[in-house]
Amino acid sequence: MMEHERILMAHEMILMAREGILTEHEGILTEHEVILMELSRITETASWLKERLPVPDVVVVLGSGLGELAEQVESPTVIPYADVPHFPVSTVSGHAGQLVSGVLKGKKVLMMQGRCHWYEGYDIQEVVRPVRILAALGAKTFILTNAAGCLNRQYQVGQFMFITDHINLTGLNPLRGPNLDQFGIRFPDMSAVYDHELITLGEKIAVGQGTITQRGIYAWYQGPSFETPAEIRMFAMLGADAIGMSTVPEAIAIRHMGRRVLGISCLTNMAAGILPQPITGEEVMETARRVRPHFKALITGIIQSL
Ligand code: HPA
Repeated sequence: MMEHERILMAHEMILMAREGILTEHEGILTEHEVILMELSRITETASWLKERLPVPDVVVVLGSGLGELAEQVESPTVIPYADVPHFPVSTVSGHAGQLVSGVLKGKKVLMMQGRCHWYEGYDIQEVVRPVRILAALGAKTFILTNAAGCLNRQYQVGQFMFITDHINLTGLNPLRGPNLDQFGIRFPDMSAVYDHELITLGEKIAVGQGTITQRGIYAWYQGPSFETPAEIRMFAMLGADAIGMSTVPEAIAIRHMGRRVLGISCLTNMAAGILPQPITGEEVMETARRVRPHFKALITGIIQSL
């Protein structure tokens, strides 16, 4: 069977699944067919978006408490995730859950105001589906932002950290299963996930704005509970500078597709056990709120210089 016939067949299966004739969780479909369905969803949604939005110069994924930057976008077209076919909808507070497309500093931008996380109960394929769709739409550069706990005692809460590399603590990988050859190769290189040129550019912009930034390694923890102090001590020994519950799956999927990634963590709290106090979601949101003007200026400056 030709590839496009398989895709059409998978598409029919989706329709049947929607009508309740078939569900992909009943084990009726093989893993290969499930992946073909995923491919079909991604191409379908990319075409849907193509009719509504221009191809962006840059995609910005806005993490917890950092969504306000999307308000700077000029002549915005706003599409709630719930209106986009096959788009997973974030259930986390602090994530508005909408696409904001428009112009910022003369560049065509598409901002994702909020993202889905694996801990919300989404399948790993669903977590990376939005960035795959936007790459299929034609986006070549992605800025992934997040709120993160800080393990490095030289760094301070409220600072931004350019992600130079990551440690995947979860054992999950969005590329598991039959490879989507249309997107990338089976065994993609991950030796330079985060673009050095973009990091250097980001640092230059930050210096010009008088904003202190750090560089470091981001560890992906599945959550949703925060880590224990013993875990944090272990992860620090492994070389992590910051820890959070997102970004890594998207970065893997984007690199699989050969697109550029810049990762920026907002260090919202010292990680568990470093300070004699519990970690709360409120503290995370409060720090993100406090540094928002600097965050907006930094990302806007980077976009302008791209
Ligand atoms: N741990 C994990 N994820 C986080 C944290 C943390 O301390 N802070 C913000 N996101």
